[in-house]
Amino acid sequence: MTNRIITIDGPAGTGKSTVAKEIATRLGFVYLDTGALYRASALKIYSSGVDPEQEKDCVRIVSASNISISEGKTFVDGKDVSEEIRSSHIGELASRIATFPRVREELIKIQRSIALLSSVVAEGRDTGSVVFPDADVKVFLDATETERARRRHTELLAKGYNVDFNEVLADIRRRDSRDKTRDVSPLVVPTGAVVVDTTHLTLEQVVSKLLKVIKMRLTD
Ligand code: DC
Repeated sequence: MTNRIITIDGPAGTGKSTVAKEIATRLGFVYLDTGALYRASALKIYSSGVDPEQEKDCVRIVSASNISISEGKTFVDGKDVSEEIRSSHIGELASRIATFPRVREELIKIQRSIALLSSVVAEGRDTGSVVFPDADVKVFLDATETERARRRHTELLAKGYNVDFNEVLADIRRRDSRDKTRDVSPLVVPTGAVVVDTTHLTLEQVVSKLLKVIKMRLTD
């Protein structure tokens, strides 16, 4: 049987990761968190001490590193960095280095090689538009800016980070604006994507809506 590809893109805080993970589990596909690769690269660039504004240095670091994802965990040169890459500082840096075309090229190679080995639910910003333009099903999740900031804020409070809501909102705005306006692979609704506004939907509602669409398209 040929491998299947489902892509789920959208801005930060739409519930993409939770939804993608759940769909992957229910279909028995591998969950491919492409943002984790950008975050892992950002972490490596940060700890190497190079100037993150210099594309050449960032590409050198990323191409010399062994960045991988396995069984839901993210590794840099064999070290499990799954927790470390989740800080908002690394998220911000990831969004900055993601504007470099040659960094993206390196990470796209990794994403495509994973999809050669198994059926995947890929989640990110450009998975349906650039990485897997021929995906079997493409999804774009959205929600209002305030709702996305509210979700991120609740998540951070639950993790014990006592952050201010307005700071989270500003962070989301900054990251969205950079992700949408960069020259290479900006965040766009991919051609042919099913667009779902999750503002007033629960996780279960989003998942069951998408599973229906996916199952229909995969049996076509
Ligand atoms: O989804 P996330 O918050 O883990 O992603 C972190 C950053 O990585 C995001 O702000 C932009 C970048 N990214 C990207 O440019 N392309 C992807 N496919 C995934 C993430």
